[in-house]
Amino acid sequence: MNRHLISAGDLAKDDALLILDTAEELARVSERSIKKLPTLRGRTVVNLFFEDSTRTRISFEAAAKRLSADVINFSAKGSSVSKGESLKDTALTLEAMGADAVVIRHSASGAPHRLANWVHGSVVNAGDGTHEHPTQALLDAFSMRRRLGGLEGRKVTIVGDVLHSRVARSNVLLLHTLGAEVTLVAPPTLVPVSVGTWPCEVSYDLDAVLPKSDVVMMLRVQKERMNAAYFPSEREYSRRYGLDRDRFARMPDDAIVMHPGPMNRGMEIAAEVADSARSTIVEQVANGVTIRMAVLYLLLGGETT
Ligand code: CP
Repeated sequence: MNRHLISAGDLAKDDALLILDTAEELARVSERSIKKLPTLRGRTVVNLFFEDSTRTRISFEAAAKRLSADVINFSAKGSSVSKGESLKDTALTLEAMGADAVVIRHSASGAPHRLANWVHGSVVNAGDGTHEHPTQALLDAFSMRRRLGGLEGRKVTIVGDVLHSRVARSNVLLLHTLGAEVTLVAPPTLVPVSVGTWPCEVSYDLDAVLPKSDVVMMLRVQKERMNAAYFPSEREYSRRYGLDRDRFARMPDDAIVMHPGPMNRGMEIAAEVADSARSTIVEQVANGVTIRMAVLYLLLGGETT
C-alpha cells in the first residue's frame, strides 16, 4: 500500500481487498465489551477538519482511540486559521507536535495532495471538496460485501447530485476496481462534464435502472455547494430522482438501499425507505469505524496482538 490514502483510484484490487479483509478481522474487536487494541500505542493521529463533519470526524477519532493511538482533534473554527494562517503552516505546526498520520477534510479539492508534500507522516483524505472521499467508498464497499457477499458483477446504481459528490467519484473508482458495474443516475445538470472518463454508465431514467440494481445508493443534494438553479424545484427533483415508497417497491426484493449521510429526508429519500430493514445507512456508520481502524492500522504499520 501507498503511505497515503488520497484517492480510491490509487488502490489496486489487492490493496482494497486487504483493507476490507483487515476490517473484517477488526470488526470482531468492535463486538467485544472492551473494544481497544494496543496496536498503535505511542502513535499520534491528527484529525484536521476545515469543513463540517459528524460521521467521518467522530469515526476517525473512535478508530484511532480503539487502536490506542493518541488523537489530536483540530477544527478550523476557533483556530488560528481564522487569523489567516495557511494550510501549510497549520500542517507544519501539527507535525511539530509529532503527527504520525494526518486525517484531513477540506473544502478545496486537492488539499490532501498538497498536504502530502509538506508532512512526513501519512495523509488520509477524509473528503476534499467535490473530489474524493476514499474511506467512505471503502466503508460502502465493506457494507455491500457484508450484505450481498462478493462485489464482482454486482450492479450498483448511484443516484442524485453527482456533480458535487466526492462520494460518487470515490465509489465509482473503487467499485470498478472490485469488479462491480456502476450506473450513475442524475439530472443532466448534475452530471460532471468529465464523467465520460469515469468507469461507469450514465442514465437519466431512474425507473429504468432500479429493477436491475443490487444496490441503490442515494446521494445528498448538496445545496450548500450550489450557486445556481440545477433543477426546477425540490418537489420536481424528488418526483424524478427521489427514492420514495413506490420506487422502493419496484426494486428487486434482495436489493439494498444506501446513503452516505447526512440525508435530506423527504427529498432524495423517503423517511420510511431510509429506516427500512433493507437500508444499510446505520450499518454504514458503524462500518466506518471499522474501515478507518483498518486504514490507520495498515498505513501506520502496527502489528496485531
Ligand atoms: N458521509 C460523511 O462524510 O458524513 P459527514 O460529513 O458527517 O462526515
